[in-house]
Amino acid sequence: MCNENIPKITRIKFNISFKFLCLDIKFVIKSYLAAFYDEWCKKLVIIIAKYYLAMGNLKAAITGVAKYVPETLLTNADLEKIVDTSDEWITSRTGIKQRHIFKEEGKATSDMATRMVENLLKKTNTSADEIDLLICATITPDMTFPDTANTICSKVGISNAFAFDINAACSGFLFALTTGAKFVESGSHKKVVVIGVDFMSSIIDYTDRTTCVIFGDGGGAVLLEPNEEYGIEDSIFKGDGDGRQYLHMKAGGSLKRPTLATIEDKEHFVFQDGRPVFKAAVKGMTTTFNSLLERNEIGHDDVDWLVPHQANMRIINSVADMLDFPKEKVMVNIQNYGNTTAGTLPLCLADYESQLKKGDKLVLTAFGGGFTWGSTLLTWAYDGDE
Ligand code: COA
Repeated sequence: MCNENIPKITRIKFNISFKFLCLDIKFVIKSYLAAFYDEWCKKLVIIIAKYYLAMGNLKAAITGVAKYVPETLLTNADLEKIVDTSDEWITSRTGIKQRHIFKEEGKATSDMATRMVENLLKKTNTSADEIDLLICATITPDMTFPDTANTICSKVGISNAFAFDINAACSGFLFALTTGAKFVESGSHKKVVVIGVDFMSSIIDYTDRTTCVIFGDGGGAVLLEPNEEYGIEDSIFKGDGDGRQYLHMKAGGSLKRPTLATIEDKEHFVFQDGRPVFKAAVKGMTTTFNSLLERNEIGHDDVDWLVPHQANMRIINSVADMLDFPKEKVMVNIQNYGNTTAGTLPLCLADYESQLKKGDKLVLTAFGGGFTWGSTLLTWAYDGDE
């Protein structure tokens, strides 16, 4: 460059201007980068905040339900031929007309549950590999150990899940549902299968008219998935071990090991003292229902469906009467299945699925051996005809 041709003063001026220009450009770039950085920082903070807020509000929604009941029927007329009873007594005291009995040779609780889960996966377009947790509520496991849940996974072909059983008798499904929901709400699990199933005819003495008229076989399964709006809202669960004297199996556990004498004395069947169970069931279901609604600031009118454990039609009616709850909003199918223990609640959901609408508020309530009892409030996540 022919710098010498430019006067010195001009060169100095130019150099100074050029330096200022560079400083300006640096300042503009720095400011721009700072603004850009600020903007992205803000965006990042919002994304993280949204993520944590969503995590806090993440619910576990039931996104599908399926049932299985065996084909063989045991009607009141059949029972009249086996024990000293009558259709009139059974119908008026329990509301039951028939039960389904699992009679397939060599088959167990896991086989009924396998059929429910296969049906559930098909209905919800879910592959077995996608399931990351399976919980089975039952008091009639295939064996004392291992658990039935892992056997079900093996039979269905679910290989990426962990699985376990819950034994809480007739409250089993409700306890399992909330347990499964916690894994979804925490964000750790995305597709959870919860099953309530019992093979009651395997532990019923068909010479004892006080129990054989009540119980039946079958149950259902639900799929739980994350949802920001609908799902399990809240649960209140209770227990009282003193109640075990009224409802239990006398032998077969570590307290009284199986012997020829325990078999002769028919101690491997359900023992039940019905009256205290009846009273405790009505009290337990109504008190937890009321406490749950109060805690969630919800009125009775806001509840679209009451889903009670199907123990006895008189128990269901007493609960509805004490709550002053309209009978047409109470799910009832006990006449078709009897008491399937952990199976009754998912069986109700399956039978009423077509009538359920997205956003419906349901309260599920149960009482069972242990004693165990409680109520769960949930918002239904899909229209029945979907
Ligand atoms: N057929 C005809 N008579 C029967 C009978 C049957 N299947 N079962 C019992 N009886 C008789 C009794 O022997 C008794 O006769 P008695 O008065 O000559 O002694 C009479 O009926 C009344 O018996 P009781 O046990 O007092 O009847 P109940 O009205 O309490 O009804 C249950 C019995 C079991 C149906 C009722 O107590 C009940 O449902 N309890 C809760 C059971 C339950 O829900 N269990 C599952 C856990 S959630």
